[in-house]
Amino acid sequence: MNESRAWFGRLQHERRAARATLMIPATTLHLPDAAATEAAGARLAPELRGGMLITLSGDLGAGKTTLVRGALRALGWQGAVKSPSYTLVEHYPFSKLYFYHFDFYRFADPSEWETVGFADCFRPDAVCMIEWPERIADLLPPPDLALTLTHPSVARPNGRLLKLEARTKAGERCLAAMTFVDFRRSPAAQ
Ligand SMILES: Nc1ncnc2c1ncn2[C@@H]1O[C@H](COP(=O)(O)OP(=O)(O)OP(=O)(O)O)[C@@H](O)[C@H]1O
Ligand SMILES: [Mg+2]
Repeated sequence: MNESRAWFGRLQHERRAARATLMIPATTLHLPDAAATEAAGARLAPELRGGMLITLSGDLGAGKTTLVRGALRALGWQGAVKSPSYTLVEHYPFSKLYFYHFDFYRFADPSEWETVGFADCFRPDAVCMIEWPERIADLLPPPDLALTLTHPSVARPNGRLLKLEARTKAGERCLAAMTFVDFRRSPAAQ
């Protein structure tokens, strides 16, 4: 087994063992428009480190790719940020970080995890942001940060709600970086 496979195996084992006893710090933010969703991703960017797993849950069109786009732009990516709906993964090589953006909505065959080489993307020098993690739930350890985007209530119909749940110290740092930001006004309006 190579080193990164061993690292990922340890992560799965340790985090699953810790899951039952874990306190999960969480918060929910209101994002009034798509610019606010991008701003939330941008706020996350400085906290991203190799080895981090961030899941993005939410219905089709909830804003998951928009948030990842905000993180990539803030990291300095100037090219296109495409939704990985068909390719399942897009790779962004930064000088100090490998960045993988997954969308497992169309992931149907668990044997692809090995044959396509998805397993090799989960490494201590790579950050992985994962849309539709529910489709590979058995393969993933609990993430550092679990993000969930939803459409708000009838009482507050605009934009999206973003729930953040931190499961590691790295996730808690992300939570802290985002908690005190007012996303009700998009950057263009500030
Ligand atoms: N806070 C927001 N308020 C209103 N619209 C938003 C907000 N955030 C994102 N959007 C819009 O929602 C639409 C869908 O966004 P996006 O493609 O990011 O969704 P997704 O969750 O990745 O969908 P999929 O599951 O299909 O990949 C886009 O038009 C985007 O501009
Ligand atoms: Mg998407």
